[in-house]
Amino acid sequence: MASAMSTEPFLTIDSTARRVSLDARDPRFYGDPNRTYAALHAGCPTFYWEDQRQWFFTGYDAVNGLLRDRRFGRQILHIASREELGLPEPPAHTLHFEAAEAHSLLEIEPPEHTRLRTLINRAFVSRHVEKMKPEIEVLANQLIDRFAADGAVELLSAFAEIIPVTMIARMIGIPEEMGPQLLKWSHAYVGMYMFKRSHADELAADQAAREFSDYVRSMIAIRRAQPADDLLTHMIHTEHKGQYLTDDELVSTTIVLLNAGHEATVHQIGNSVRTILASGASPAEIFSNPAITERTVEECLRIGAPVHIFQRYCLEPAEIDGVSLARGDKVSLILAAANLDPLKFSDPLAFRPDRAEAPNLSFGAGIHFCIGAPLARLELNLALPILFQRLPGLKLAGTAVVKDIYHFHGLDRLDLTW
Ligand code: HEM
Repeated sequence: MASAMSTEPFLTIDSTARRVSLDARDPRFYGDPNRTYAALHAGCPTFYWEDQRQWFFTGYDAVNGLLRDRRFGRQILHIASREELGLPEPPAHTLHFEAAEAHSLLEIEPPEHTRLRTLINRAFVSRHVEKMKPEIEVLANQLIDRFAADGAVELLSAFAEIIPVTMIARMIGIPEEMGPQLLKWSHAYVGMYMFKRSHADELAADQAAREFSDYVRSMIAIRRAQPADDLLTHMIHTEHKGQYLTDDELVSTTIVLLNAGHEATVHQIGNSVRTILASGASPAEIFSNPAITERTVEECLRIGAPVHIFQRYCLEPAEIDGVSLARGDKVSLILAAANLDPLKFSDPLAFRPDRAEAPNLSFGAGIHFCIGAPLARLELNLALPILFQRLPGLKLAGTAVVKDIYHFHGLDRLDLTW
């Protein structure tokens, strides 16, 4: 894998020892991770990533199985103490972040997770999502109206970034003018999930968590006094077996919905447009009716997923694909690589919307399956065809630059002309 930038190898695979050395910050990797995933599938689908000091899984069956395996969880502190696991206490400068995460669906396991997810599901039902359809169509068209006459656009800032945050804010019941502020908080907040974060990233994330939480608490107070037909009001009043969400749970849930609810979708809109334009496929054909559009959207999710890695703690000793894991071990599942497993997908790196093979794993599986998948899918199924129908001559202007933020996969900017 040579590059003009550097001739140093960025990927070394020792298939016999199942050890891989890979520099996640090398643009030859994060700029085109699918090529590396193909090499890993060929040489070593389950491997110990030396630089990350962890076992990684890329095989479809292994990843799908691990996501559903109750011997693994997103959290382990519900069954073991930090002391027992040798984990340090969270540092004082991230306490607001920790508090906001404490009740996030993504940070808890049953029985707490089951209780919270049941309550949230009752408020986040499909009729609330379906109701957004006309609004998404209007918004997508309004945004395109602003630049349609220009012949050129940077799509992320003018389109992709605005739709998800506007929709999730409207759904929750947060005033739209908060959109830019929500984006700032969210960008700073997700800095905590980066592979190599700095002390400054942690401070920024903690400050965002504090301000974001204070803001959500003020919104909760307003909605308690003046209920409205929005998700926040529904979450406040939703009841299951005599239980309600506490204020801390409402804060964590609103933050996770806002964060998870837009970052991934923004990247997915950008990745999808880039994939389609680079593939040479005819937009008129692949968006010719809703059923074909749906398959196109799924193929874009398969081949250009926005979030590549999710981690699990091993909760009890287990053996996966010949790897013995002990309680407390952390493993990583590369969902985006599982989507390219040659054992499941023929010619896996090719963009083929007509393929009828395994479902992609981009929204996960099992108890943590993305609660926002119906909303994300609705946005993609509406926004993409509208964009290509309104601007039939759409072309990539130059080479799209991938952000150096692995394990997210998204673009810095996406310049288009027509
Ligand atoms: C293309 C867009 C999206 C992708 C690819 C995506 C992907 C995922 C994945 C893979 C998971 C499971 C994580 C795990 O198992 O460890 C997840 C969970 C979650 N997602 Fe999404 N997501 C997207 C959009 C959204 C949206 C729009 C929302 C909110 C409206 C959302 C809210 C959540 C929440 C709250 C969870 C945690 C669920 C739980 O733990 O029970 N996501 N997402």
